[in-house]
Amino acid sequence: MHKVTLIPGDGIGPEITEAAVRVIEATGVTIEWDRQLAGMAAVEKYGDPLPEPTVASFRTNKVALKAPLTTPVGGGYRSVNVALRQEFNLFANVRPALSFKGTQVPYTDVDLITVRENTEGLYAGIEHFIKAGGENIAAESIAVVTREGCRNIIDYAFQYARDNGRKKVTVVHKANILKCTSGLFLEIGREVAEKYPDIEFEDRIVDACAMLMVMKPSQFDVMVTTNLFGDILSDLAAGLVGGLGLTAGANIGKEAAMFEAVHGSAPDIAGKGIANPTALIMAGKMMLDHLGERQAATKIDRAVRAVIEEGQHVTPDLKPGSNCTTSDMASAIVGKIV
Ligand code: NAI
Repeated sequence: MHKVTLIPGDGIGPEITEAAVRVIEATGVTIEWDRQLAGMAAVEKYGDPLPEPTVASFRTNKVALKAPLTTPVGGGYRSVNVALRQEFNLFANVRPALSFKGTQVPYTDVDLITVRENTEGLYAGIEHFIKAGGENIAAESIAVVTREGCRNIIDYAFQYARDNGRKKVTVVHKANILKCTSGLFLEIGREVAEKYPDIEFEDRIVDACAMLMVMKPSQFDVMVTTNLFGDILSDLAAGLVGGLGLTAGANIGKEAAMFEAVHGSAPDIAGKGIANPTALIMAGKMMLDHLGERQAATKIDRAVRAVIEEGQHVTPDLKPGSNCTTSDMASAIVGKIV
């Protein structure tokens, strides 16, 4: 029996959470879900986007499955996702992108893992305006990159490659321009690579890397990079395998881990019952792997892939004009779990 903090989130969050819980429970694994609020839902109930009971639950259970949360653009509260990553030092954001048969994308052979540093860089949240004459005349943002942070994430990526039978790690940077922040990342990349002679090492400049990912994604295996570059490249990778509706991510720290869909709360389709539940279901699959429930995780992976390949019970984002609802797709996946 595992205890997991469950955050149903905002927008389409509660709909896809319902679907993910059904699929996870269909594997036969027993989980005691501790449902907690965050984001807009928590602001409405507690006046706080990250209330103490949610933090306390995650601190106790050390594992969370989280649906997307709405973050106001510009003003308003800071991203709860970023706050959770920083509070629990969830320094590694791991996002697999593996081609799905049956999707309308030009690639069939993508199998890459993006490992993104999750707590530092430009997302450290150190920003301010510079005022003159009562007007914001400029804005400054500070990227913080520490030797320890670089070492932790790059070491995690190499160790992940070794543990998962992967062959190559690509360190992605912009050290030609950002000579300090990206330069330090590359320096540590070269240093850590020497500890892993069994894993091939290469480095790529981020802009060229984005182009190469689109031209021939199969050349990449594990990629490791700083926060902002990782945010962008992992979405690019999601696009290579069929879009955000399919891709999951894990936020891993030394003490705790949080699993989530890569996409947001999709307010444009919230409440319509047509959100694709795959990403959160695949986040559940990653969570089961983390909990040591490998067989159950494999069952979910196979069932999801079979349903998408058949293309009968998939939501309209995957098959325009489809009448299949979130719940129908979840039922089809449950039906394939053996
Ligand atoms: P979004 O990912 O919510 O939506 C982008 C587009 O993809 C929309 O057209 C949406 O309908 C579609 N989409 C997303 N997920 C889908 C799914 N499961 N099935 C079918 N279609 C799907 O990004 P957007 O609109 O930029 O952000 C909305 C809110 O979500 C914002 O408040 C943002 O801050 C938040 N957000 C939260 C994240 C998280 O909690 N991890 C991640 C990204 C955004």
